[in-house]
Amino acid sequence: MKGFILGILIGILLLVGCVYVYFSWGFAPVATAARPMPLERKLAKAGLHAYLDKLPHPQPLVPADEANLIAGAKVYKEQCVVCHGLPDEPKSAVSRGMFPAPPELFHGTGVTDDEPWETYWKVESGIRMTGMPGFKGQLSEKEIWQVTMLVKNADKITEPVKKELLAGNTTPMAMAMPGMESKPAKETKPSKEKASKSKSQ
Ligand code: HEC
Repeated sequence: MKGFILGILIGILLLVGCVYVYFSWGFAPVATAARPMPLERKLAKAGLHAYLDKLPHPQPLVPADEANLIAGAKVYKEQCVVCHGLPDEPKSAVSRGMFPAPPELFHGTGVTDDEPWETYWKVESGIRMTGMPGFKGQLSEKEIWQVTMLVKNADKITEPVKKELLAGNTTPMAMAMPGMESKPAKETKPSKEKASKSKSQ
C-alpha cells in the first residue's frame, strides 16, 4: 500500500515537472502560426461547454425582424467585421493572422445552428485567450441581442440587411451591390480611427 501511494505521488510530481519544463524551456507554442498545444482545442472547447451548460438560457430580448437585423448589421459593421468578415468578401489580414482563427459568420454554417442564448453569452462575455472580446458595458443588452439575431440568421438575411452590412465598405463586392454607388462610402471622409479600421478589411 505504501509503495502504491509513493508511486502515485512520484507520478504526479513527474507530470507537474514535465508541464513546467514544457513551458519554462520554451517548448510551448507562442506564435499564432505555431501548431496548437496537445489537447489545446479539445480542453478549451470542453471547458467552455461545461461552463455554458451551467448558465441560465434566456430567451432573446428582440425578435429577428428586419428592423432588428438592420440594427444588428450596424453593430456588426462597427465591431465585428474585421475579425468575422462579410458575405462574399475575403478574410481580412487581421483575421488571417489570428489563432484561433475567428470563424467566418457569413460563410457556411457560422453560428446559425447555435442557440441565441449561447451566442449572446459569447458576445457579452468574450472567450478568454482567443481574441474574441467581451462587449459587456461597450454595447447595450439590446444591441448584443440584435447582433446575436443577425449572426443566428446569417444564412437567411434579406437584401436590405445585406445592403446595410456592406454599406460604407469599399471592396469590389460592395461596389457591385445595386444602390451602393449612390451612397458615398463612409471612408471617403474618414476620421482617423475609421481610416485604420477600413484598411484592415
Ligand atoms: C478581435 C477579433 C474579434 C472581434 C472584433 C470579434 N470577434 Fe468574435 N471571435 C473571435 C475569435 C478569435 C473567435 C473564436 C473563439 C474560439 O475559437 O473559441 C470568436 C468567436 C465568436 C463567436 C463564437 C463562434 C462559434 O463558432 O462558437 C461568436 C458568436 C462571435 N465571435 C461573435 C462576434 C460578434 C457578434 C462580434 C462583434 C460584436 C465579434 N465576435 C467580434 C474574434 C473576434
